[in-house]
Amino acid sequence: KIIVLDYGSQYNQLITRRIREFGVYSELLPNTITAAEVKKMNPKGIIFSGGPMSVYDEGAFNVDPEILTLGIPILGICYGMQLLAYKMNGRVEPANNREYGKADITVTDPETPLFKGLPTEQTVWMSHGDLVRELPAGFHVVATSKNAPISSFANDEKKMYGIQFHAEVRNTEYGNDILRHFTFDVANAEANWSMTDFIDQQIEKIRATVGDKKVLLGLSGGVDSSVVGVLLHEAIGDQLTSIFVDHGLLRKGEADQVMASLEGKFGLNIIKVDAKARFMNKLEGVSDPEQKRKIIGNEFIQVFNDEATKLDGIDFLAQGTLYTDVIESGTSTAQTIKSHHNVGGLPKDIHFQLIEPLRTLFKDEVRDLGEKLGMPSDLVWRQPFPGPGLGIRVIGAITEDKLEIVRDSDLILREEIKNAGLEREVWQYFTVLPGFKSVGVMGDGRTYDYTVGIRAVTSIDGMTADFAQIPWDVLQKISVRIVNEVAHVNRVVYDITSKPPSTIEWE
Ligand code: XMP
Repeated sequence: KIIVLDYGSQYNQLITRRIREFGVYSELLPNTITAAEVKKMNPKGIIFSGGPMSVYDEGAFNVDPEILTLGIPILGICYGMQLLAYKMNGRVEPANNREYGKADITVTDPETPLFKGLPTEQTVWMSHGDLVRELPAGFHVVATSKNAPISSFANDEKKMYGIQFHAEVRNTEYGNDILRHFTFDVANAEANWSMTDFIDQQIEKIRATVGDKKVLLGLSGGVDSSVVGVLLHEAIGDQLTSIFVDHGLLRKGEADQVMASLEGKFGLNIIKVDAKARFMNKLEGVSDPEQKRKIIGNEFIQVFNDEATKLDGIDFLAQGTLYTDVIESGTSTAQTIKSHHNVGGLPKDIHFQLIEPLRTLFKDEVRDLGEKLGMPSDLVWRQPFPGPGLGIRVIGAITEDKLEIVRDSDLILREEIKNAGLEREVWQYFTVLPGFKSVGVMGDGRTYDYTVGIRAVTSIDGMTADFAQIPWDVLQKISVRIVNEVAHVNRVVYDITSKPPSTIEWE
């Protein structure tokens, strides 16, 4: 395996991910790890990640100097390169121009293992304040750029390498090749790891952590918590209890489907709480979207707590936190971008220890994991669904009648998207009820009824999105079905705005 020491860059988990994609196990570890601990893990190579600090900062992240004497190949990226230079008695200085963005480098030693066989002119992604100004003894320059004369250095004898740019981001043209060269040509790692190994490792780890104690899991019906549920159940069976809060704002048939699959097929022990009345009661007459979100979020925690306190002897709380949730909320070393509901939404007085087996994974890796665990693809490939559910798809005050219209029209939309084979192409698709009425004609009579909006977008991560170009005939079928099959709807509109300037949800 290849270990990556965490110096706080937003990109650091991407490094481990790229290496895992090569079929080599990789994990991100705290920079405080000792040489003895590293030795025990016996990695083939060590990568020092990038980070926002300067090596001269007070309290700058450091490395156990003994690690540099173990003879294990080292690649320093950005801050990691500067740290390596500093520790090996080179000189690091603030750059004349802080550099953020694309830069062109020239490879000056095409025989050096990192760049072997690659074009000598390359575009890379730089993001740094400091630079290595003087080489440590025994090192030589292997690539340069206008602003960073020492863009990359090497010491073949000690198997130490540094790159000033971020090889792990896609904007670095040959980044993946550089990481591959380090992994296989320098570190001689073997490609023998797969998601199945990850499952085995996690199961072992969960068993070791939990022992004979009990774990509680909040199931939402979404991909992440479902995968955590199945994985934990593999590991500890009935020592896991799951609570599934049905807040009445789920899609049609969803609660039953989750129960049928997770309880019925996988045998999870699930306490299903029917809290519809509680939620509707709290939401009555509330029309402000943020207010609705707050009420639903708080009520969810309260219902969960009420159920959890009825259970005895629970020591652990499992969560489906993903790596993207972790970076958005700030890891111990990465800087915070924004707090995330999955991580920040826990009640403060909860005394459980957390178990988060998906913490190092990206969404597509979780889907892969789910499939390897034998979960059905309609569960694993479920589209994103917001915590407040249909509560933010009935615009304004929520009533049971309006929820019914959204549920029924949403089901028709889902069926037709599936029939058209567009499920994986369209990232998220749903119907909304704006709440106004307009005039129509049905049969011989005038109608005055609701309009349903269809929202369907393509996106990578939900941060930006384009409206999906669903074929007209599919839209037509959806429209006809909704008007014919859902009572009190006489008009269907398609949302043709992108994000930005719109958002994906309507409120
Ligand atoms: P927007 O509407 O902000 O949505 O473009 C981006 C993605 O986030 C989901 N979303 C939410 N998820 N709680 C959630 O858990 C929320 O309050 C919430 N609001 C939006 C939305 O469905 C889309 O996938």
